[in-house]
Amino acid sequence: MDSGSAPQRIADLRTQVARHDELYHRRAKPEIADVDYDRLKRELADLETQFPAAALAAGADSPTARVGDDRAEGFQTYRHRQAMQSLDNTYSEAELREFHARLVRLLGREDLAYVVEPKIDGLAVSLTYEQGRLVRAVTRGNGVEGDDVTANARTIHSLPAELKKSKTAPAPDIVEIRGEVYLTLAEFRRINQGREEAGLELYANPRNLAAGTLKLLDTREVASRRLEIVLYGIGACEPAGAAGDTQSGYPARLHGWGLPILEKSWTARGIDEAWAAVQELDRRRDAFAYATDGAVVKLDSFALQREAGRTSKAPRWAMAYKFAAERAETKLRAITIQVGRTGVLTPVAELEPVVLSGTTVSRATLHNQDEIARKDIRVGDTVSLEKAGEVIPAVIAVNLERRTPECVPYVFPTSCPACGTPVVRQEGEVALRCPNYECPVQVRRRVRHFASKACVDIDGLGEAMVDALVEKGWVKSAADIYRLRRENLLSLGKDVEKSTDNLLAAIEGSKRAELWRFIHGLGIPHVGAASAKDLAVRFRGLEALASARLEDFLGEKKASLIEGIGGTIAQAIVTHFNQPRNRTLVEELLALGVAPKPPAGAAAGGASLLGKTFVLTGALPTLTREEATARIEAAGGKVSGSVSKKTSYVLAGTEAGSKLDKAQALGVPILDEAAFLQLLPPAG
Ligand code: IVH
Repeated sequence: MDSGSAPQRIADLRTQVARHDELYHRRAKPEIADVDYDRLKRELADLETQFPAAALAAGADSPTARVGDDRAEGFQTYRHRQAMQSLDNTYSEAELREFHARLVRLLGREDLAYVVEPKIDGLAVSLTYEQGRLVRAVTRGNGVEGDDVTANARTIHSLPAELKKSKTAPAPDIVEIRGEVYLTLAEFRRINQGREEAGLELYANPRNLAAGTLKLLDTREVASRRLEIVLYGIGACEPAGAAGDTQSGYPARLHGWGLPILEKSWTARGIDEAWAAVQELDRRRDAFAYATDGAVVKLDSFALQREAGRTSKAPRWAMAYKFAAERAETKLRAITIQVGRTGVLTPVAELEPVVLSGTTVSRATLHNQDEIARKDIRVGDTVSLEKAGEVIPAVIAVNLERRTPECVPYVFPTSCPACGTPVVRQEGEVALRCPNYECPVQVRRRVRHFASKACVDIDGLGEAMVDALVEKGWVKSAADIYRLRRENLLSLGKDVEKSTDNLLAAIEGSKRAELWRFIHGLGIPHVGAASAKDLAVRFRGLEALASARLEDFLGEKKASLIEGIGGTIAQAIVTHFNQPRNRTLVEELLALGVAPKPPAGAAAGGASLLGKTFVLTGALPTLTREEATARIEAAGGKVSGSVSKKTSYVLAGTEAGSKLDKAQALGVPILDEAAFLQLLPPAG
């Protein structure tokens, strides 16, 4: 680059970076991978340093000098007492060592102690506690002021409304506590599956979904997705001394106040130890509850942090080392179409097998038609793959240098590849659908789902068996399973007498499966196992659920009447049963003798756990965790992972951890196994 072409390149890069900032921070819909974004930003920063005159000519305002802005429509903004900065980052060990060398020069000493923390891939928030009470939760915004998301943050179960009284470190009068809101992988998958079935656009990774969720204007909807939070720092604090004097003192302090903290952090003397900690983190981070995209190396001493100071954008005393998601290039052999249970057509990339992060990948989802067009993906292209959110392989981009004239744009089918019905695109959806309810692939998938382990769990009715029965035309719906005839099954092969009898017995036995299994098995969009359990407790029967109206789910001002069931799920249920065929299926099932077992609750006698929430901690003398959970759920209760004021009981065994402390602090009743068993309805 020479000084002649620098101004143009700087201007181009500024436009590009500003656009990606907007997509990432404000809309939670990035179009490029983090590494590529960081590369653009780095190139811009380097050019601005190298050609200061050109940078100035392009204007004073550059995205390299500010933090990305997440403020969105519909929220009140709030000014942070202490600004929330960003972090400088690097992908290179040498640059991390250079960060240390800079601090050595700046501070005039070699013996620098660091803390190494996981860098959580979530959404930054600042919580203000006044006199120990949570008064506000605000996003980072532009660093100076952010969006007030207090109502949404209050739906996070693990977030205490009041700080615990800690003897060693009393809660400050006013304190800003900083951390990240995130979603677990399991929750990410649950929500995306619901969206896929409903034909809605999928979230690319847990971070985007967490960010999108915290910025929903409908708090009921937020409550139906289970956000989590982890806290690692302190902003403004009065009196100042209450924050302590080292970074390494934070976890104990925050934990003492009852806040969820990082799973692990390291203290390191010097940069060699810090680098070793970064590598250890990389080996262990898969086991963390949240996605991490790097390590943050911070000077331990607050006195030294103050001395090192900050730039307009980031502290000089900290550096993020990012783990580049592994990438691989391979050839896109073909695009095939998968027809889902609800008729959604999903394009799938059929790839020349390639190893990515230790697994061989030969297929990857391309999400939908728009996504293929936006990335201009053509059959025959060489594409680069990455594990999105380090989870599902995704096609990131096309390597245009390797595109040949034979690579032709993909034409999305206009009719269903399975049944030939013309596809439709419904308003508000990104997906194309096959509208034919009798489409054989949809029928197979619906019946497979109903019979699967996650639903009614009919032993012997696996995918291959379902496919055979559908193929023969004997099964067209879940109800037909209960109409199967022995002589038909016997005709499927030689020596099948025994397996036929076993299957018929399993089918007969399944008629009394738990109610939530049937509800899940009906395949209502957005209704997964967890929602099905919530619905079973409230409705106690399939008929009651099928005839429920929107008012039965949502009360005045649309407040959710059933825990865990927000507006989207409620609407999906009502829409589902507005279709006569879906109501007919329920009627047929019941007429065929299906008698789902409602959760033991009020009807089972005085000892019901209906509406009670339990948290399990430690090892119980006789019950396993799974057994205890099953007993609680069977009695109408729920099990949650974290203690809050809403927890009814903590069931504690030996070696109970922080959950027990928290229960004591909040005054939540604590049960041992014997006391717990007394609460349960008598067996049988
Ligand atoms: S410290 C003044 N520590 O990464 C520096 N940030 O890319 C404050 N982040 O805005 C940040 N994990 O949202 C810090 N252990 C950690 C972090 C962390 C994730 C986020 C944070 C920050 C962003 C910068």
